[in-house]
Amino acid sequence: ELEKMRRDFVANVSHELRSPLSSIRGFLEAMEDGTIPTDEHEKYIEIVLDETRRMSGMVNDLLDIARIESGQYKLNLSVFDINDLIGRVLITFEARITAKHADVDAQLDYEPVFVEADRDRIGQVLHNLIDNAIKFMPENYGLLTIKSVVSKHKVYVSVCDNGPGIPKEDIAHIFDRFYKAEKAHTYKNGSGTGLGLSIVKLVIDQHHGEIKAESSENGTVFTFSLKQALPPPRRQPAAE
Ligand SMILES: Nc1ncnc2c1ncn2[C@@H]1O[C@H](COP(=O)(O)OP(=O)(O)O)[C@@H](O)[C@H]1O
Ligand SMILES: [Mg+2]
Repeated sequence: ELEKMRRDFVANVSHELRSPLSSIRGFLEAMEDGTIPTDEHEKYIEIVLDETRRMSGMVNDLLDIARIESGQYKLNLSVFDINDLIGRVLITFEARITAKHADVDAQLDYEPVFVEADRDRIGQVLHNLIDNAIKFMPENYGLLTIKSVVSKHKVYVSVCDNGPGIPKEDIAHIFDRFYKAEKAHTYKNGSGTGLGLSIVKLVIDQHHGEIKAESSENGTVFTFSLKQALPPPRRQPAAE
């Protein structure tokens, strides 16, 4: 069983790397032999660059997965405010959100909500979830809702979109490596690798948190939980 998984994995990686690689090669050859005229080179160089970026992204994701799974990656724990981190990650998506004319509804407490976790890794989790939400939301009237709620010493963060949703038969598999639901294949900007959610799951598992996906034709909500932490001792409010 393990051996089969390993073979599938190698086959998947090779396949996923081969398609961008062959398109890069095809475009470069066509530019070299003049099939693509010089005045169109700029456009094709952009495409080639996009493909190389996608490939490096994928190799980085694979390295992350390999490191986490081998147990080599120790969490770098610190106490931080998850609402602050959510805000910081959101800012990095500002351009894409504006380009898509989408709305953001951040329902975060003004109060800081502390967790003890690996800040970079949780940032990556937020990044991957928000990236999907923006990717799959409609071109017009897209809405991204992010909430953080504290209940019984746990912090629940949810990332919600009003996209087409994930079909019932796919939802059990979306955390699998390389899994892309059928709709995603034909999606315009949907040329992902199917690794984002596997990393999300590995990271949340490593934190002993929980993650779940709920979806309908009105959209999708991903909710993960982490243990709430006490505020770091040093940051006591100054006397008024
Ligand atoms: N917010 C979402 N709305 C609809 N489908 C989603 C959403 N998030 C994830 N999916 C589905 O789960 C699949 C796996 O997601 P992910 O692991 O991030 O891979 P990728 O984004 O590279 O396709 C996606 O291809 C898509 O089919
Ligand atoms: Mg993704």
